[in-house]
Amino acid sequence: MKSSVERVVEIRTPKAIMFGVGASEKLIEHIKELTNEHVLIVTDQGLVKAGVVGKIKKTISNADFKVSIFDGVKPDPNKECVYQCLNLVEAKDAKVLIGLGGGSSLDIAKVTAALRINGGKITDYVGIGKLPRKGLPTILMPTTSGTGSEVSPIAVISDPDQHTKLGIVSPNLYCDLAIVDPTLTVSCPPNITASSGMDALTHAIEIYTNRVSVQMIDTLVLESIRLAGLYLKTCVHNGEDIIARTGMALASLYAGLGLGPVNTAAVHSLAYPLGGTYDIPHGLANSILLPYVMEFNRPACKIKFAKIADALGVKGVEKEDEKAKIAVEMIVELSKEVGIPQKLREIGIPKEAIPKMAETALNVKRLIKNNPRKVTLNDAIAIYERAY
Ligand SMILES: [Fe+2]
Repeated sequence: MKSSVERVVEIRTPKAIMFGVGASEKLIEHIKELTNEHVLIVTDQGLVKAGVVGKIKKTISNADFKVSIFDGVKPDPNKECVYQCLNLVEAKDAKVLIGLGGGSSLDIAKVTAALRINGGKITDYVGIGKLPRKGLPTILMPTTSGTGSEVSPIAVISDPDQHTKLGIVSPNLYCDLAIVDPTLTVSCPPNITASSGMDALTHAIEIYTNRVSVQMIDTLVLESIRLAGLYLKTCVHNGEDIIARTGMALASLYAGLGLGPVNTAAVHSLAYPLGGTYDIPHGLANSILLPYVMEFNRPACKIKFAKIADALGVKGVEKEDEKAKIAVEMIVELSKEVGIPQKLREIGIPKEAIPKMAETALNVKRLIKNNPRKVTLNDAIAIYERAY
């Protein structure tokens, strides 16, 4: 197997990424580049109530665009949500979709835009590279710092029938414009800030220690880990701190940029059945499992784990072995400090579900194959049991 320095990497991105405090104020200029017709905002009711959607809608309608809102996105949304959104897109003949919210709203916007042009059903496109054409133009505006969906070619939709998640991966899912404005994350409540921030950190760690990691992306995600270590706690405990919010928005963006070229591994595979069967939010499922998977992977990633400890600011430790161990402890510490539950039993998962969940997780082959240490069925069971 080639080393990370020798591997060739192909990095695709949205057509444009705007990052910075106040970036969302430039939305209109960009809509004008894409259409002069109907625009649809894809979002959730929480953001409507918080007044975030109304503000954006007003900006768009003041610029003489027709604009509608689909606010039916729920956490970890299912297939039905996509079809409901698609009905509204068809009824309004919307030409541009704006995903405004957490990863769920962004993913619904991506998949709905894709179905509007490609036709067919969601299940036709599940897997890697199955989407033949680019969908309607999309602008994605995250209001959480976590999923990185705004810069990834991936969308994940729950499938209650199969008790898992359906992952669609295609370069045709890249949006036209990602607007990452840290001010949009200020209204994000502490628990969501914590779990989505830990999700971003999980992305960074899984990309950095991946079987197919590449040096160019390593640089980005190591910086993402450093930023999350520096700013996540402040974002959770003092959400108005715009410097911390900007740091976390950047941490999430950097990790998100690694999802297309490298992607995640066993934490995400093992988290899939928690969401698919027990409706545990994506970020929370990953946050709980991260330290247990890191502990499993530690023998295979000593050097990189030591560098993670360095990025998180470890002091006075020389030996790599020791630093690698401390890296896991530092992640546990951070997770506790931001209020993440530490055990699966705390979130209502029945213990007898473990063997079935392990089987489902191993079927998420596109991710589990990336893990730096091979995961067998017994390994997956053991990881869940340790996390229980
Ligand atoms: Fe994730």
